[in-house]
Amino acid sequence: MRSNSPQRSTSTDHPRNQPRLTQDNFAQLWRLIAFARPYKWQLVIGIVSVVVASSLQIIFPLLIRDLFNTAFTHTGNNPDLPNINRIVVILLIVFLSQAGFNFVRVYFLGLVGERVVADLRKKLFSHLLGLSIPFFEERKTGEITSRLTSDVGTVQGLVAQDLAQFVTQLITLVGGLSVLIVINLQLTLVMLAVIPGIIIAGAYFGTRLKRISTRFQDRVADANASAEEAIAGIRVVQSFTAEQNEREHYGQLIDSSFDQARLRVLYRSFFVPSIILAVFTGITIVLWFGGRQVLTGNLLPGDLIAFLLLTIFVAGSVGSFTNLYAQLQQALGASYRIFELLDINTDLSQPKNPRNLKQVHGHISIDGVTFFYKDRPFTPTLKDLTLEACPGEVIALVGPSGAGKSTLITLIPRFYDPTKGSIQLDGIDLRSLETRLLRGHIGIVPKETTLFSGSIASNIRYGRPTASESELLAAAESANAHSFISRFPDGYNTLVGERGIKLSGGQRQRISIARALLKDPRILILDEATSSLDSESESLVQAALETLMRGRTTFIIAHRLSTIVNSDRIVVLDEGRIVQTGTHLELVNKSGLYRELYGKQMDH
Ligand SMILES: Nc1ncnc2c1ncn2[C@@H]1O[C@H](COP(=O)(O)OP(=O)(O)O)[C@@H](O)[C@H]1O
Ligand SMILES: [Mg+2]
Repeated sequence: MRSNSPQRSTSTDHPRNQPRLTQDNFAQLWRLIAFARPYKWQLVIGIVSVVVASSLQIIFPLLIRDLFNTAFTHTGNNPDLPNINRIVVILLIVFLSQAGFNFVRVYFLGLVGERVVADLRKKLFSHLLGLSIPFFEERKTGEITSRLTSDVGTVQGLVAQDLAQFVTQLITLVGGLSVLIVINLQLTLVMLAVIPGIIIAGAYFGTRLKRISTRFQDRVADANASAEEAIAGIRVVQSFTAEQNEREHYGQLIDSSFDQARLRVLYRSFFVPSIILAVFTGITIVLWFGGRQVLTGNLLPGDLIAFLLLTIFVAGSVGSFTNLYAQLQQALGASYRIFELLDINTDLSQPKNPRNLKQVHGHISIDGVTFFYKDRPFTPTLKDLTLEACPGEVIALVGPSGAGKSTLITLIPRFYDPTKGSIQLDGIDLRSLETRLLRGHIGIVPKETTLFSGSIASNIRYGRPTASESELLAAAESANAHSFISRFPDGYNTLVGERGIKLSGGQRQRISIARALLKDPRILILDEATSSLDSESESLVQAALETLMRGRTTFIIAHRLSTIVNSDRIVVLDEGRIVQTGTHLELVNKSGLYRELYGKQMDH
């Protein structure tokens, strides 16, 4: 049933866009490196160590050359033992200092990498929290969090390893080649003629391998997505006895990933031997040519050995550049995605000179508000809506599902701005208020409450972290939550959230109400706060809500109309317009949408 459902998108639908090394991308890379600026001394120490360590690397073949030349040329009657000893001591010193500089390099660059990553994560998260709701609606949570995890991690490699690698290989290449030319120009030219063969072989298999690997990873990702869905929805799977279906679906995806994996194995099995073959053929050619030069006296034996060692170094560094290029591309892609996020500004404009609200009365006027969601630019969700709520008034919003009730109340804490018209608090346009301040006066009890990992106490304190113990207890008491909380062995310290105990819907809602009570806002928004509860916990929650609403301007949306009959005013919405207003008594005695809706519910 699943395999032919068209809405299942696979990641291969969106080919990965490989960033090119353009000027723009380098600008981004530069921005990234700017994050290392506070640690520039560590960075400088690290880079200097890289330069020294890789220069020492080139001294090594030169010393070997001296060693062998001494050993081969001063044999027999006058062995030059002191010279040999001297060279060996120098060699040991070179190795020792190389080890020292490598330690300094790995330590400092690693440290800078970690610091940059930590800073970047903090900055990115803090930026994310400030973005407006539409941003989060347009993206999957996993997509956003992977910026924080994998993309930032990729960038770390750039600072900690790739940079050092690049410098090392560059020095090895340039230094090595210069020394090779000094030793023997002719032989160097022979060697340079051989190297391209190795590079071409490497590049050919390398790019093919990479392409297949990407395809393989895409297939595995598809399979993972399918497994995650099935596991997350295991109750549904089992209740529909759809296990076999799921098995087959997953099996197909895994089989298709296996096809790519088989290709990858094939290419790999060609890759390594062909590189080895190319390298040793090259070495044999160089040795053959060099051997002849030694025979003719144009080259000393030690020169040939040094030559061989340097050739291996140079070839290695040339080979590593393709790898480095791939890593650079990855880092560019990651930094592109990171900065793309950092460059998104919240579309809620903040006033330059925010109006101050000394005392908030909670007078809300909704003035000719029309609202479009971005992804539905042709149908207004709210149409020219006008409504006024006096301080302390309880207004119930009623209407069929999709009428725009939730949309209307999300405009009050300014999760969105109206497309046309305005909303005022105590006569001041919300856009002239600091959003932080505005939201400080609004309490929301949604249909499903989010509890964060931590204790029950810390979850209630979310409403006001500075609240005292007695205030906390009072809030829980008024929210009808105290008795069930104190029945837990750990009481208020009981852990909830991802790793904590599971609470029932009614218990969660009462914690949510305690949270709102602690915040003590002037304006209250209840969006179907009781609609997912059974009737027993509904009455407990309803009672707590009555306490909460007392003296606050309240907008209440209720699924069951019986819970809002006592509201000061009932506003009936239909297709984004207000179609009726009045008290319950006024409205049931008139023909209209309200009586219709109310009648329907009474029938059940
Ligand atoms: N975030 C959103 N993006 C786009 N359209 C939305 C969004 N939320 C709701 N809608 C649409 O707006 C209309 C009103 O929805 P909503 O305000 O949730 O209605 P109600 O709460 O009265 O059931 C519906 O047609 C719904 O599909
Ligand atoms: Mg709704």
